[in-house]
Amino acid sequence: MRNQFEEALHFRHACKLFDAAKKITEEDLHFILDAGRMAPSSFGMEPWEFWVVQDGSLKEQMRPLCWNQPQITTCSDLVVLLSRKNLRSTNPYVVEQFRPRGELFEKYLQTYHDFIDARSDEEIDCWSGKQVYIASAFIMLGAASIEIDSCPIEGFDKEKLEALLKVDTENFEIQHLIALGYRAKEQQPRSRRPFEEVVKFL
Ligand SMILES: Cc1cc2nc3c(=O)[nH]c(=O)nc-3n(C[C@H](O)[C@H](O)[C@H](O)COP(=O)(O)O)c2cc1C
Repeated sequence: MRNQFEEALHFRHACKLFDAAKKITEEDLHFILDAGRMAPSSFGMEPWEFWVVQDGSLKEQMRPLCWNQPQITTCSDLVVLLSRKNLRSTNPYVVEQFRPRGELFEKYLQTYHDFIDARSDEEIDCWSGKQVYIASAFIMLGAASIEIDSCPIEGFDKEKLEALLKVDTENFEIQHLIALGYRAKEQQPRSRRPFEEVVKFL
């Protein structure tokens, strides 16, 4: 398992150009998206939705709003990751997320209230957005584990993209995109700061 994880780590890179002729099977795509669904989130809030763009003409419309990046139109599937907004403890979505806790329902809701409600709207939306990045890591590593390439994408015009995709911006916002598919050429050598510089043992 360790070796397989290591292989996935080394396989994954931010793929800048996909082979547009190669499509991900439905089964593989389900596996990858399910890895995102299984990701942890603070309080188990799962404050995310994953929208999968498969339609070529929609990808064409999205590309100019995404810094004209070729990944948008060459990928097989383009995942739009959205976070929920307004997640105060009175939001019915929040209340329902705590329902499966059974007898601990009230306790969870109270702890969540103490944790969240004193924050500003912006801080709460930011907290929600951070959870989505964890799901992203799961999606990208899930993809790499079955030798499917990915590219996380933050380079886009948020307002215009939300308008194009008819996002209900009262309740959701786009955090980023992940293009999925098969690399068109070999990846560039990876560059990382040394382990000793990044990791501190206390
Ligand atoms: C949140 C996030 C947003 C990113 N946005 C873009 C992007 O818009 N376009 C792009 O080509 N790469 C994007 N990247 C990829 C990074 O440039 C890349 O991960 C980094 O250079 C390290 O390279 P590697 O992933 O191949 O190891 C993004 C990465 C992250 C984590």
